[in-house]
Amino acid sequence: MMAPATEIDWLMAVMETAFPPEYGEAWSRRQVCDALIVGNCHYGFIAADGTENPSETNPAAGFFMGRRILDEEELLLFAIAPAYRRRGLGHRLLARFIADAQDHGMTRIFLEMRRGNPAGFLYAAHGFRETGIRPAYYRTPGGQRIDAVSHELTFED
Ligand SMILES: CC(C)(COP(=O)(O)OP(=O)(O)OC[C@H]1O[C@@H](n2cnc3c(N)ncnc32)[C@H](O)[C@@H]1OP(=O)(O)O)[C@@H](O)C(=O)NCCC(=O)NCCS
Repeated sequence: MMAPATEIDWLMAVMETAFPPEYGEAWSRRQVCDALIVGNCHYGFIAADGTENPSETNPAAGFFMGRRILDEEELLLFAIAPAYRRRGLGHRLLARFIADAQDHGMTRIFLEMRRGNPAGFLYAAHGFRETGIRPAYYRTPGGQRIDAVSHELTFED
């Protein structure tokens, strides 16, 4: 997927404020561009007004990045910038991501997050369930080890 530079700018602007630096979860611009070129990846935005089309006057408040392989989709990145949190934008964006996945014939969505991330409440509210733990999977730049918690959402036929 070729991405316009402006859209990568919006995505990186959210990325750089959304992920707590101590966990090293944010991707670099290079990682994002590489994933979009080679990795079956796609992304979407939520703008400050809740619509899906940011603009100069209606900035990107959040984004997702997913990767579809056959009939399964991995949610690779999901973020709302701190200035726009706790007003339902995360719920709206995740609902859209799930509906898109279903429209594209996906049967399952999966993701991994670090244990203790409040995003787990959001995923649970949309029907994701925990499927496993990878003990001490993440290592923070400070050397702390944190479990990865796998989640999945499966669709009925
Ligand atoms: C997780 C995140 C996307 C939520 O975005 P948001 O726009 O604030 O989400 P919403 O306002 O739609 O709230 C969604 C639900 O998430 C939960 N939630 C969000 N932030 C929370 C927090 N700090 N503490 C506890 N619960 C929280 C709540 O259950 C909330 O629902 P409620 O308000 O109806 O109770 C946002 O905090 C974020 O970008 N975090 C950093 C990036 C990240 O960790 N992404 C997930 C990677 S796996």
